[in-house]
Amino acid sequence: MSVFDAADFDDYEAVHFVSDADTGLRAIIAMHDSTLGPALGGLRMFDYANPDDAVTDVLRLSRGMTFKNALAGIPYGGGKAVILGNPKTKKNAALMPALGRAIDRLDGAYITAEDVGTTLADMDILRTQTKYARGTSTGVGDPSPYTARGVAHAIRCAVREKHQTTNLSGIRVAIQGLGNVGRHLAEMLNAEGAELVVTDIDPARLEAAADDFGADVVDSDAIYSANVDVFAPCAMGAAINDTTLPQLQAKIVCGAANNQLAMPGHGAALADKGILYVPDFVANAGGVINIGLEGNANKDEIMQRVDAIASTVTEILTRSRTTGQLPTEVAESLARERIAAAAMAA
Ligand SMILES: NC(=O)c1ccc[n+]([C@@H]2O[C@H](COP(=O)([O-])OP(=O)(O)OC[C@H]3O[C@@H](n4cnc5c(N)ncnc54)[C@H](O)[C@@H]3O)[C@@H](O)[C@H]2O)c1
Repeated sequence: MSVFDAADFDDYEAVHFVSDADTGLRAIIAMHDSTLGPALGGLRMFDYANPDDAVTDVLRLSRGMTFKNALAGIPYGGGKAVILGNPKTKKNAALMPALGRAIDRLDGAYITAEDVGTTLADMDILRTQTKYARGTSTGVGDPSPYTARGVAHAIRCAVREKHQTTNLSGIRVAIQGLGNVGRHLAEMLNAEGAELVVTDIDPARLEAAADDFGADVVDSDAIYSANVDVFAPCAMGAAINDTTLPQLQAKIVCGAANNQLAMPGHGAALADKGILYVPDFVANAGGVINIGLEGNANKDEIMQRVDAIASTVTEILTRSRTTGQLPTEVAESLARERIAAAAMAA
């Protein structure tokens, strides 16, 4: 497939294909738009079924980062990198340094951070080769608590839109995935009196959530039809698809996972079912705010910026209600307005 012909191609500034025979590294770095600043977005390592899937993923993810960073109010454009391969079996001592050198060759046009399949330790290794790796153990570290905080704000805003209250006591939330973000989110929602239904493919994580938060545990496939007010996807993308959509009982979808809608049309399908969808790239921006402000803001300032996700979500949901546009359309328009304003001012 030519990258220019990919269904998800949207005038990307650059797409770099990286390969290194010595280490087996195969990676793609996509830079979507740098109007607001260097392209910032995490590094994903995933065992893609084929290279086309990796291209599609990196294109969609980097474009999403353009909107996410614009709406988060940080001076960065959108970028993303993916390594093709199973992170559990294909990482070797030389793989990350090779990618670090490739990122360094871009001379700051792309800045990376942790994502699915990569860790803080990986960022530390990248940092030995390039200063354009964030979220290292000597930097701001794990972004997930900030991401979870932003998602909790977004859930409160959506609950207010549907139920005219931000009080989560008694609100039932289904969390799909109790990893770095999902676990923190569960902790926060439980502290506010929400009732949790959880699923994960890791039984130990489920047991811990049941013990610590009194969460109801369900099988992976049963999470969609759980009798809840909010469905919070916090595992992989495409949680909302043709199979899962008809099963949903929740009237709000709001979580941390990137690319929750398998196809753009699923946004309209959710709205048709009366389900309010908070765009993932708005709700889950806490982590990138933390990463983006690394070295330029203290913890209180970073928290304030993460807390501003609440006003952005409120603005999007209000505009959506008054114009009849889908929340995702409103969010993308708002991001484009901010990017256009920056371009005019430059
Ligand atoms: N970490 C961040 O700060 C951050 C920021 C923005 C977006 N995100 C997105 O949020 C999502 C979660 O990120 P994370 O850092 O918590 O990842 P993670 O890998 O720590 O956690 C993912 C969890 O989902 C579980 N899981 C995987 N497949 C599943 C399935 N089919 N059903 C149920 N559970 C399943 C895993 O066992 C794991 O516990 C990802 O999509 C990520 O891209 C994360």
